[in-house]
Amino acid sequence: MEELKAKGINPGLAVVIVGDDPASRVYVNNKKKACEYCGILSEEYALPGETTEAELLALVEELNTKETIHGILVQLPLPKHINEETIINAIRPEKDVDAFHPTNVGKIMIGNFDFLPCTPAGVMELLDEANIDLCGKHCVVIGRSNIVGKPQAMLLLHKNATVTICHSKTKNLKEVARTADILVVAVGRAKMVDEEYIKDGAVVIDVGMDRDENGKLCGDVDFDSACKKASYITPVPGGVGPMTIATLMKNAVTAAIRQSEK
Ligand code: GUN
Repeated sequence: MEELKAKGINPGLAVVIVGDDPASRVYVNNKKKACEYCGILSEEYALPGETTEAELLALVEELNTKETIHGILVQLPLPKHINEETIINAIRPEKDVDAFHPTNVGKIMIGNFDFLPCTPAGVMELLDEANIDLCGKHCVVIGRSNIVGKPQAMLLLHKNATVTICHSKTKNLKEVARTADILVVAVGRAKMVDEEYIKDGAVVIDVGMDRDENGKLCGDVDFDSACKKASYITPVPGGVGPMTIATLMKNAVTAAIRQSEK
């Protein structure tokens, strides 16, 4: 960061939150803290839940042209009266540090990308750090969201894995999951995946961020049960979540460097 600043590059990230969803508030606070830690300028735009789509679009437009801001993150989900796709499409692709814009999604498909989506890229980094070879392995991704499931499958495919995407309509989910060498779970249902979904020795990545029956933070995987089968497993909290934020920081810096080169 010092080196960048010496070159006059001061990465700036705008974090936009609309409404008062408690989980989103926690995520946004964590993102701001990480910016502080890394020396990235962060600007928070906390808008009331009644904000109109036109008002939010106007803010995105302003941030698109603001020179001190290199990355724009609009925290999802947005209130129901705002069309998320309209907002994502309005963010300039060079500032789209979430990699949600169709231009960036398309680039990821092709394998020639500027940014990687934060959570899937964080998962890839975890697998890499643990020296888990993906070539020819069967990876099963449970969940098909645009934020995690779909891009995750693509990144695993780029590493030569054989990939299956499962979702709420998948038949025999347990049996399919049990064929996985690497199982990535991103469904948003507390402790849904237990040892019955896991092959002996499989690697289990839990992308969930849920609350259990006592209101305690937990993942989509029943950790204690899954531990009996998994060779590697990520906890919640403290597993994938911090990796998402680390990737966001990386993307903000990349965006600033790219924009300085123009
Ligand atoms: N909501 C849940 N995950 C994310 C994320 O990675 N980015 C944004 N913008 N919103 C989210």
